[in-house]
Amino acid sequence: MRMRSKPNFIGLDTSYPTASGESLTRLHLDGAASPLAAETALKAVNTMLPHYSNTHSYVHSSAQISTQAFAWAHSTVLDVLGANAEDYAAIFLGSGTTAAINRVARGLRSARPTRNLVLVSSMEHHANDLPHRQFNNEVIYLPLTGDGAYRGAVDIEQLRELCENNSDDINYIAISSVSNVTGVSNPIKEVCDIAHAHGILVLVDGAQSVAHGPSELSSLDVDFFVFSGHKVYAPMSPGVLVAKKSLLENLTGQDLGGGSVASVDPYNFHFVDDPSAREESGTPNIIGAIALASVLQELEAYGLDTVYQHDLELMNVLKEALESLAHVTVYADPKLSRIGALAFNIKAVDHGLVAAILNDYFAIAVRNECFCAHPYVSSLLKEELWQLDLDHVAEDQHEAFINQKRGMVRVSVSLYNTTEDISRLIQALDQISDNAEHYAQHYKALADGSYRHQTFNLDWKATIGF
Ligand SMILES: Cc1ncc(COP(=O)(O)O)c(C=O)c1O
Repeated sequence: MRMRSKPNFIGLDTSYPTASGESLTRLHLDGAASPLAAETALKAVNTMLPHYSNTHSYVHSSAQISTQAFAWAHSTVLDVLGANAEDYAAIFLGSGTTAAINRVARGLRSARPTRNLVLVSSMEHHANDLPHRQFNNEVIYLPLTGDGAYRGAVDIEQLRELCENNSDDINYIAISSVSNVTGVSNPIKEVCDIAHAHGILVLVDGAQSVAHGPSELSSLDVDFFVFSGHKVYAPMSPGVLVAKKSLLENLTGQDLGGGSVASVDPYNFHFVDDPSAREESGTPNIIGAIALASVLQELEAYGLDTVYQHDLELMNVLKEALESLAHVTVYADPKLSRIGALAFNIKAVDHGLVAAILNDYFAIAVRNECFCAHPYVSSLLKEELWQLDLDHVAEDQHEAFINQKRGMVRVSVSLYNTTEDISRLIQALDQISDNAEHYAQHYKALADGSYRHQTFNLDWKATIGF
C-alpha cells in the first residue's frame, strides 16, 4: 500500500550565527553535493545496531538477521530502481559513485580489450571522466547541443555518427543521467538504443537522478548504473553499482578476498556464483546499505513520480525567478527543464563572493566554483572569460583575477525544499545585487578565487558543542 506522507529529514531547523550577529535557521540548497539525512536512514541504523553482526553466515541469530537484511537491501535497490532482478545485480561498493565508476572502467578495459575507445559526454563530473582516461587508450568527448553558455544535452546525432563510424572500436559510452552543474538531463534511452545497435555498452552516472524521480533501468536497458547512497538522504551508506548480470560475468572479481570465493586451495580459487557477493569482497558496509535501501523504499512508497513533480515545479520556479533578475546568467539551454541543480552568475559579483555572502549573512548554503566538472564549466564560461578586461589588473594578479571569475554559483534542491525557500534565496540575491559594494568591503579575495569574511568566522566545535 502506498504511504503518502513525505519523508522527514534531520537538520531542517539547524541554525547558525551570521555576520550580522543574529542566528538564522540554515537553508540547505546544496543537496547535489550531499542532501540532509532522512530520518528513516537513522532509524534503520538504530534498528540494526543492537543486532549488528557480520554477514555471510547463518551460524547465530544476529548473523542470520544481518545476512538476510543485507540481501533485502540488494533486492530493494533493484526493485526501486526498476531493474528486473533476473537480469540485474546490485553491488555495494566503496564510498560512492567514484568507486563504482572506477570499478566498471577498469573491468571493461580488461573484459573487452580489442575495443579501446570510450565515448564520454562533455558534461561529466571528474568521477565519470578521469577513470575512463586512466584505463582506456582513447577517449572521445561527446559534443553537446547549442553553444556558449547555453549548451544543452548530449547531441544525439553526433553520438549516432561516432557510433556508426567507430562501431568496432568503442567499448562503452559513459554519460550522466543529469548534470551535477546545470541539472540538464541526457536522453538515456536513445543513447542505449544507438549504442546497443553497435554492440557498445552504456555506463550511466545516476548520482544526480536517483533522489529526484524514477530510474526505470530495465525499460531504459542501461548496462551499468552507478550512484552514491549519500546523495539519496543516507549519508552513512556506500556507493552502488547496478549492472546486467550477463556483463558482470566477464568483469570477474577485481578486489579479491573473503566473501567472493567459494573455495580456495594453494593453487586455485573459485568465485561464488552470486554476482553481487563476487564483487563485494571483504566486510561490506552492511548497516549503510540497509539504511540506503530503507530510504529508497520510503521514497518509492511516497511516490517517485511525486518526488519528480516536486523537483520539477521547484526548479521551474527557481529558474524563472533567477532569469527575471537583472544581470543574472543561468547556464545551459534556457528551453530545457532542470533536475535538482542549476548554476548561475551575477554579472558584477564574483561567484565566490555571492556564495560567501549567502552563507555569512543569510545562512543559505549553496556551492560555487567548478563542481568537479572543470571542462564543462570552462566550456560554458569560455566567452565570458575571453571578454574579461585585464587592462586594469596588475600582471602578477591576472591569475587570481581570472580564478575569481572562473566558476559559478550552484543552487540544488532536495525533497525538503519548498517554494518559500526559493523566495528566501531570491530575496537574498536581490539584496546582494543591490548592496554588492557594501558587502564586498567586509571580504578579502583569496588567490584561489574564494572570499573570506574579515571578521566573521565560525567556530565549528563551539557551534555544534563537540
Ligand atoms: C554526477 C556526479 N557523478 C559523480 C559524483 C561523485 O560522487 P561521490 O563523491 O559520491 O563518489 C558526483 C558528486 O557530486 C556527481 O554529482
